[in-house]
Amino acid sequence: MSEPTKTATLTVDGQSYEFPVLSPSAGPDVIDIRKLYGTTGMFTYDPSFTSTASCDSTITYIDGEKGELLHRGYPIDQLASKSHYLEVCYLLLYGALPDAAQLEDFESRVTKHTMVHEQMHRFFTGFRRDAHPMAIMVGVVGAMSAFYHDSTDINDPWQREVASIRLIAKMPTIAAMAYKYTIGQPFVYPRNDLDYASNFLRMCFAVPAEDYQVNPILARAMDRIFTLHADHEQNASTSTVRLASSSGANPFACIAAGIACLWGPAHGGANQACLEMLKEIGTPDRIPEFIARAKDKNDPFRLMGFGHRVYKNFDPRATVMKESADEVLELLGVEDNPILATAKELEKQALADPYFAEKKLFPNVDFYSGVILEAMGFPTSMFTPIFALSRTVGWISQWKEQIEDPGMRIGRPRQLYVGETARDYVDVENR
Ligand code: CMC
Repeated sequence: MSEPTKTATLTVDGQSYEFPVLSPSAGPDVIDIRKLYGTTGMFTYDPSFTSTASCDSTITYIDGEKGELLHRGYPIDQLASKSHYLEVCYLLLYGALPDAAQLEDFESRVTKHTMVHEQMHRFFTGFRRDAHPMAIMVGVVGAMSAFYHDSTDINDPWQREVASIRLIAKMPTIAAMAYKYTIGQPFVYPRNDLDYASNFLRMCFAVPAEDYQVNPILARAMDRIFTLHADHEQNASTSTVRLASSSGANPFACIAAGIACLWGPAHGGANQACLEMLKEIGTPDRIPEFIARAKDKNDPFRLMGFGHRVYKNFDPRATVMKESADEVLELLGVEDNPILATAKELEKQALADPYFAEKKLFPNVDFYSGVILEAMGFPTSMFTPIFALSRTVGWISQWKEQIEDPGMRIGRPRQLYVGETARDYVDVENR
């Protein structure tokens, strides 16, 4: 952590307190208020953490005004066009791009862990067939703690490493199994001669009666979706993983907590919600009606796939995703798809509307990823599981970073209590 170069002064009732100001390698300075309660007896009040840095981190940097996203310093557009998902996983986990031998070794280690314990199949069959695949993933990933006892000791660096590799390797298998189960098809085992993205596509779309020939353009688009979702700083699900891990919980339990948080429509669930919204709109002529609803203060409806807590000009992931969407739709010959036509027109009309411009609401990554996944043949319920499998490396890297930080303590936010003060219990007959 940087040495303080400045101080901030807080004055309350005429008394002044000094706090160190820390300067990051990029981004705004932060006021170090760790001693605030001890010296002043006061807490800060910051619901939803809009002004709070919860940790120091070297993994991902976002400049919301500039629309910049860096992983270990490398811009996301360069990684999406020149690198590939497993190389980005290595970068996030270990802090530097691998050389050729390191990459080969890493890919081989991930590939050798793609199968899940055979007995885990029974977990899947315990779910109803109409279960949402995210419900299955929360359960099955949490259940990994019951199967892989040799990688649950968080104090052992070797076990942490094995857990990290296992999670990255098995997540596509688990997501594909969740999908196969809900459509009543047999599970397809991973094939280690395929790359990460091709293997996932095959596990989702092959059947015993007919193998699935992976189209390299689709595999590339799939890999890019994984890469664009790999990490995103201290978002809700990552903060959930960090908070869960701060208690010393095992890695599989922590990642299951992250999956649960990601599921919500304001976070990873937005890609499913966005596609469902586009289907509900149906045709471009109905767009004004939906834009009017999104602007109406009395209507809870929001344009899904629009807006971001941090990006206030554009989402750099959306720019790459949009290019990918064009490529995939051209390949599949579905440029005339009504959903796509609606998406394109909605983007145009919303961006031209002063409400969205004033509130700095732009299409986010989920606006385009849903269109690509739909064109590839995934049902909307699989969109968020695909986000979860992509984000696993980010969660794991942040989990590892936190555990390796000697200053780690259990996370314990405080509150502004506005309830009743102490009062005496009244027996039921007297109430
Ligand atoms: N449609 C219409 N109005 C919106 C939207 C939207 N999608 N997003 C924000 N607003 C309005 C909101 O009503 C508020 O207006 P006012 O100031 O008049 O009350 C203002 O913009 C600020 O909104 P906010 O809720 O305070 O902003 P936030 O930073 O808390 O929320 C967000 C960010 C992403 C949750 C929100 O923009 C949203 O709900 N978007 C739709 C869901 C979505 O696409 N989520 C995916 C985010 S990217 C992937 C990921 O991170 O998982």
